[in-house]
Amino acid sequence: MDRIRIVGGTPLKGTITIGGAKNAALALMPACLLTEETLALSNLPHLVDITTMANLLAQHGVMMALNGNATNGGHTGRVLELTAAAIGNTTAPYDLVRKMRASVLVLGPLLARCGEARVSLPGGCAIGTRPVDLHLKALEQMGARIELDGGYIIASAPGRLKGAHIIFPQITVGGTENILMAATLAEGETVIANAAREPEVTDLAECLVAMGARIDGIGTGTLKIQGVERLHGAEYSVVPDRIETGTYAVAAAITRGDIELVGARFDLMESVNKVLMECGVHVEETPRGMRVRADKGDINGVDIMTEPYPGFPTDMQAQLMALMSTAHGASMITETIFENRFMHVPEMTRMGARINVHGSSAIVRGAPKLSGAQVMATDLRASVSLVLAALAADGETIVNRVYHLDRGYERVEEKLAACGAKIERLKDGVAE
Ligand code: UD1
Repeated sequence: MDRIRIVGGTPLKGTITIGGAKNAALALMPACLLTEETLALSNLPHLVDITTMANLLAQHGVMMALNGNATNGGHTGRVLELTAAAIGNTTAPYDLVRKMRASVLVLGPLLARCGEARVSLPGGCAIGTRPVDLHLKALEQMGARIELDGGYIIASAPGRLKGAHIIFPQITVGGTENILMAATLAEGETVIANAAREPEVTDLAECLVAMGARIDGIGTGTLKIQGVERLHGAEYSVVPDRIETGTYAVAAAITRGDIELVGARFDLMESVNKVLMECGVHVEETPRGMRVRADKGDINGVDIMTEPYPGFPTDMQAQLMALMSTAHGASMITETIFENRFMHVPEMTRMGARINVHGSSAIVRGAPKLSGAQVMATDLRASVSLVLAALAADGETIVNRVYHLDRGYERVEEKLAACGAKIERLKDGVAE
């Protein structure tokens, strides 16, 4: 299994190109199930999770073509055409859903288009139990009949789904996306109150509008959808990844370097940038994206709490903890979205970080120096936080279980190496 070897201590300098947002792409791809015409998506990232979604859609009967020439060894410059002319199979099997929870995003579109769907229950994952009860309750409000049997969600909607007034008791990104897609083809008006406002939800809503959906309140906490009889094909470009942007911003800060993040959407980075600036990191918008620079001196500890957008994202919590481990003074990091998202703490501790967890909060006391070690991670953002810590640490770090990184970061070692990082991928222990 691949591993990554890093020798830390080099301030990173240069440019990094930001790719399309994984989490936006994972919602946009299943939107193709809502129409028999072609949905053409550009700026898709080249990631394992995207391949998993493509495999899932293919087994539902979606025809796919990847056109255009790649300009960077990834998918930039390419367009993925997805055509669900006929849906031959409405079952999302355990083997695929188990690999990636976002597979549950086929439920709303399949139910709206075919009147039935059988989707494996995702189950728990490394960062918490993560139920889908809110997705299911909302679909029931829209007239769907839902049973759970043999680990599967068995949903049917004889006739069309009906518009409904849905109030999510808790903000859910995936729940909002599933209901948004289902509501585009439902009969009458659906109102989603307490909807997630994440840019990835907005990206999906804008793509659905390009496909003929009628949606008001995009970007707000109340989405109003007038169901239409049918949607049509569209061309759409995936929003740049704000979590990839934030991760490389921390790479610049933690190594006291200077990186321009080309293609980054500055306007989507407000909460992360505010925290970085409070720490003493210089962040500025540039014509091509944004520039992040930290001086040799101290980064100060700050307190943060994860929140739904526009608050500080849970998907940046582990990366910020790595930065705080090298800061001057203490910081308190409180996780409010997932109950078990401190799995990176014991591994960072092995690198010399001084972190104590009390319930949903972690107290981080900046250490004078982190030191390289053998580490491994249990989820995607935890893995990258260890890469970041390693970039700042003395000596060599080996990050095991790299497959987590490949789910969400495209050519991470190439992008970092281009800025001077001493990083290489070891294939079965051998440098590539
Ligand atoms: C999405 C993102 C993930 C991010 C998360 C929060 C994708 C593919 N993944 O995950 O990277 O960390 O948003 O920003 O876009 N919940 C319930 N019942 C439900 C649904 C959610 O209790 O039916 C709970 C979850 O367990 C969690 C919280 O609500 O504690 C938020 O989850 P949600 O926003 O739904 O996250 P995902 O869409 O799974």
